Amino acid sequence: MFAQSLLIPAETPLFWVGAFTVASLSLWLLYRLLSGFRIWVLGNGQLLSPKLGKWAVVTGATDGIGKSYAEELARRGFALMLISRSQDRLDDVAKSLEVEYKVQTKTIAVDFGKADIYPKIEAGLAGLEIGVLVNNVGVSYSYPEYYLHIPDLDNFITNMINVNMTSVCQVSFASVLNKGVILNISSASGMYPVPLLTVYSATKAFVDFFSRGLQEEYRRQGIIIQSVLPFFVATKMTRIRKPTLDKPTPERYVAAELSTVGLQSQTNGYFPHAVMGWVTTRLVPSSIVIFLGARMNRLQRTGYLKRRKLREQKNGASFKSE
Ligand SMILES: NC(=O)c1ccc[n+]([C@@H]2O[C@H](COP(=O)([O-])OP(=O)(O)OC[C@H]3O[C@@H](n4cnc5c(N)ncnc54)[C@H](OP(=O)(O)O)[C@@H]3O)[C@@H](O)[C@H]2O)c1
Repeated sequence: MFAQSLLIPAETPLFWVGAFTVASLSLWLLYRLLSGFRIWVLGNGQLLSPKLGKWAVVTGATDGIGKSYAEELARRGFALMLISRSQDRLDDVAKSLEVEYKVQTKTIAVDFGKADIYPKIEAGLAGLEIGVLVNNVGVSYSYPEYYLHIPDLDNFITNMINVNMTSVCQVSFASVLNKGVILNISSASGMYPVPLLTVYSATKAFVDFFSRGLQEEYRRQGIIIQSVLPFFVATKMTRIRKPTLDKPTPERYVAAELSTVGLQSQTNGYFPHAVMGWVTTRLVPSSIVIFLGARMNRLQRTGYLKRRKLREQKNGASFKSE
């Protein structure tokens, strides 16, 4: 009786606190659903057109995700500047774009692992009206490994920093856009530390931070800078041969990603990857994500080293029998 008489005055404020909480959650959910619909169903596919500037520049353009960006941008009518390591492979891709999409192409053959290539890139880009730059080139580990066990660690570090980080800063600088779009291909591995891929993960976190900071600096000038963080895509880098819903082909990934440009400054680029990104950053504590990443990579490392040993034994045996 006494407790009841105490509760009666609290009833009205509690009702309003509850009503306010339910209303706020409903509005938040509605907002999330509508913005999800805008990004993943309606998309912004028409934004990227040569009206931004005649040329699209793609680094790492001869394979995987970079090649798919080059094809998709050529299909939209951009002239293409392709930058990769091997002149032969650049010539093949350039020729196929010219034949299939009737667009102009140019190429620059450089090794992004080297630091002295930027005067050559600057000279190649000088005078081009650049509408889109895709900073795509990147290298990863050949297999997950503990930091101090990485073969030729010294060169490995220099190469990965030059290819994954320096290239993004330097090519953005050399491209000098007045308006237009820069897409910086980071990775979901840059969203949290990934043990046994530690250097890769850290370089990709750099790309994400660099992009997001730069976007704020140049937003008022109308330049769009997007940080793209894919999970697995079936390319030479991942050695995934059979694409699945969560490990799409690069063509499928790029088509989805381009619909998010102008709508998200940081994106996983593809709806199933966005769900994975949400679960791993918002739902699961980061300590668990890091722990599970380490476990997955330790298993992969063991499998890889076993297969390598078997291969070496087999080669040794066949060498002896010759
Ligand atoms: N695939 C994935 O699951 C995934 C996931 C997240 C993020 N990413 C990121 O997406 C980007 C593309 O990955 P991908 O899977 O498409 O890679 P990929 O299939 O291995 O293709 C890499 C491209 O970069 C070029 N390249 C590599 N090293 C180079 C160097 N030192 N100098 C110049 N060009 C070089 C390669 O051409 P040449 O060998 O002929 O030079 C090739 O055109 C990377 O930044 C990667 O980190 C990929």
